[in-house]
Amino acid sequence: MDKTEKIVYVGMSADIIHPGHLNILHEASKYGRVIVGVLTDEAIASYKRLPYLNYEQRSLVVSNLKGVAEVIPQPTLDYRPNLEKVRPDFVVHGDDWKDGVQAKTRQQVIDKLAEWGGKVIDVPYTKGISSTMLNERLKEIGTTPDVRLKRLRRLINAKKIVRICESHNGLTGLIIENTSVTVNNVKREFDGMWASSLTDSTSKGKPDIEAVDLTTRLHDLNDALEVTTKPVIYDGDTGGKPEHFVFTVRTLERLGVSAIIIEDKVGLKKNSLFGTDAIQTQDSIEGFSAKIRAGKQAQITSDFMIIARCESLIAGKSVDDALERCMAYVQAGADGIMIHSKHRTGEDIKEFCLRFREKDPNTPLVVVPTTYNHITEDELAEWGVNIVIYANHLLRAAYPAMVKCAESILANGRSLEANDLCMPIKQILELIPGTK
Ligand code: SPV
Ligand code: MG
Repeated sequence: MDKTEKIVYVGMSADIIHPGHLNILHEASKYGRVIVGVLTDEAIASYKRLPYLNYEQRSLVVSNLKGVAEVIPQPTLDYRPNLEKVRPDFVVHGDDWKDGVQAKTRQQVIDKLAEWGGKVIDVPYTKGISSTMLNERLKEIGTTPDVRLKRLRRLINAKKIVRICESHNGLTGLIIENTSVTVNNVKREFDGMWASSLTDSTSKGKPDIEAVDLTTRLHDLNDALEVTTKPVIYDGDTGGKPEHFVFTVRTLERLGVSAIIIEDKVGLKKNSLFGTDAIQTQDSIEGFSAKIRAGKQAQITSDFMIIARCESLIAGKSVDDALERCMAYVQAGADGIMIHSKHRTGEDIKEFCLRFREKDPNTPLVVVPTTYNHITEDELAEWGVNIVIYANHLLRAAYPAMVKCAESILANGRSLEANDLCMPIKQILELIPGTK
């Protein structure tokens, strides 16, 4: 390398390469040797949705673009750690970062470069094309079972905590796919769907006792799969007999479901939130471990996850009992542990998680904070939790709203008074893409 050649640094996500990126690289190469810092999955997931392509795929694409001399990972949104390493003469970026949330990042880059006399070059933003617009188009095209299935493991690796919400039909799937809020400049959305046995059953007017068969539940799940791209965790109840469970695993894998959670109960399953009010029998450690092993042997991909759900705390047993069981389930091949409780304080869950993490730093932990719902996602992450499931909230929100509307129509003998309880006709007509 020519020692006098200047070094130019460009940071990019490079998920969907478009002419705007090529323009920036073309401009950058005029100033010297271009090093591209490709943002890692972790860096991107810290402020928006996970990219379609993983880091290795994105860096491979960028390293083959004209004008790029070298690719390195950029593990944080903050450019400064990489700038310290590379000490570039120039940082080249689209001029869109002069305004809005990125302005702070730009200023940090300017200040850092000033330490060794480097400069920022702002390239005029390429109009008429943007990753956001292309993202929308891609969402319309959808996803494949293979890509969807792999996404959960990628999310667990990339995010501090993965946020999952209950879905029981196409419409709730769409809500989970599309709803977002921006908090402190970070776009927050759900990472995936929970196919809950409680809400799948309740939406059919049936009790949560494994009375709705697999085929029926998958028929409805398919509606959600058709209109979404996010991963699915399937509530497999007890998993049934091991001889049947192996077929369930393969069927879910084929559909592109990322994980099944099965609980260590036998006999007639009742919903866990009844706690000890309902007679619920836990399986033996040996019995449940054999079921996990059978499932792991049956799966075809290495990405599908079988997560073991421990019901000790639901059954009124100790954290020690739960720990003993869960360590055995991991030994049997479980890819994750869901620990459940109906206590309101969350203290038992906290104790379990902290003690589990002392013994096992890696196996993903899943929790369902329905009763201890004052605990925040940040706190759960501190305890070592990887996945939080909001297990029934969309259905529980919808039901009282519907009852209120029904009562208003009955009370008034007309629907005028119910109007404000309902979304406008125009809105429902336009809600689903392709309606017109
Ligand atoms: C479900 O959503 O069906 C669950 C979680 O299994 S719970 O209802 O809390 O048992
Ligand atoms: Mg359930």
